[in-house]
Amino acid sequence: MLSIFQRKPKTCIGIDIGTSSIKVVQLKRSENRYRLETYGELQTYGYLERLNDPLQTKSLKILEAHVIEMVKELLKETGATTKNAVMSIPVFSSFVSVTDLPPMLEKELPRALVFEAKRHIPIPLSEVRIDWKVINKTIVDLEGGLSAGKAGKKGLTKFRVILIAVPKEVIAKYLRIAKALELKLLALELESFSYIRSLVGSDPSTICILDFGARSTSFTVVDKSFIQMSHSLDIAGSELTKALAHGMGIDFRRAESYKRESGLGAGGLGAEKELRDILLTFVDKIVLELERMIDSYQRKTKRKVTKLILSGGSGGLIGLEEHLKKRLKLNIEVANPWARVVRLSLLDPILKELAPRFAVAAGAAMREL
Ligand SMILES: Nc1ncnc2c1ncn2[C@@H]1O[C@H](COP(=O)(O)OP(=O)(O)OP(=O)(O)O)[C@@H](O)[C@H]1O
Ligand SMILES: [Mg+2]
Repeated sequence: MLSIFQRKPKTCIGIDIGTSSIKVVQLKRSENRYRLETYGELQTYGYLERLNDPLQTKSLKILEAHVIEMVKELLKETGATTKNAVMSIPVFSSFVSVTDLPPMLEKELPRALVFEAKRHIPIPLSEVRIDWKVINKTIVDLEGGLSAGKAGKKGLTKFRVILIAVPKEVIAKYLRIAKALELKLLALELESFSYIRSLVGSDPSTICILDFGARSTSFTVVDKSFIQMSHSLDIAGSELTKALAHGMGIDFRRAESYKRESGLGAGGLGAEKELRDILLTFVDKIVLELERMIDSYQRKTKRKVTKLILSGGSGGLIGLEEHLKKRLKLNIEVANPWARVVRLSLLDPILKELAPRFAVAAGAAMREL
């Protein structure tokens, strides 16, 4: 039962079960600051060997036992001391849509949302948990004009809502993992909310975040520190490695190290050019999607996206920052989830290197503190 005497926990672990690795971050709240207590990452079992395995994608069912073992090992290795945990759910396991509803009375909203959910969610509503939030309201007055603020008694209101649906099966899996690890699961949230918390906080500007991971890439527009648009693509680091391996006739392991060593910075001749061209085919699909999303947001709201934050392990692709700068003509910033976290300064070089991969775990840990 909620009580006014209920205190927020002092320490919490954020857990991000990614396709290529699991990340954990333990933070402590002290005097309105977050303090980094411990962190760690463990490569997912056989990730590179399983690049062609479709089971690696959508359902992690078969991997559940491995995941439990890995998180257990990681928590032990990092010396995590609390059982309080927040876990993040990947964008590719859920359905997220931001929709503008036609003008209506506020009391009509719940029914309209069920209708919208049926339209946007490709599986039966009985199989998903739905969450929604109004992100913008505009009153439509009798003359048809628009004004922001509270709706009058009879006034119609235009709502922009974010709808999030997570399959009950996915939630059950996370609950089983937490139970097996004897964790006190304080919350489960979509990973976009975790990285918005660690990367944007209360910054009111219009920002786009790119989480360029291993299995999927998510794009999020955040404005006035709240999610306004969200989208994801099934093109990410794994796809780049697979394309290099197939295109150059090499195995996944070599393709992975070529990708990391040369990236888009490779020279203009022979094999290096081939590598760069293969990577660019995929990177430019992401750029195109980014352009579309930014353009659509700007046209709809007349607000200008001022910067792009580059997050996720593939965000570390050599030459990506310069390429995006040239193509998008935007300020590009590499994700830094440690910006509001007190940490030992001797850890700074390593934390800087890890930063783009830890935005989700750090943001999850911040949620309940
Ligand atoms: N220096 C680098 N250059 C290019 N790619 C890199 C580099 N370092 C890591 N990666 C890629 O980043 C990906 C891992 O990133 P991340 O840890 O964000 O993914 P994940 O969270 O496991 O995956 P997902 O979120 O898609 O489930 C891998 O595909 C890896 O190849
Ligand atoms: Mg990830």
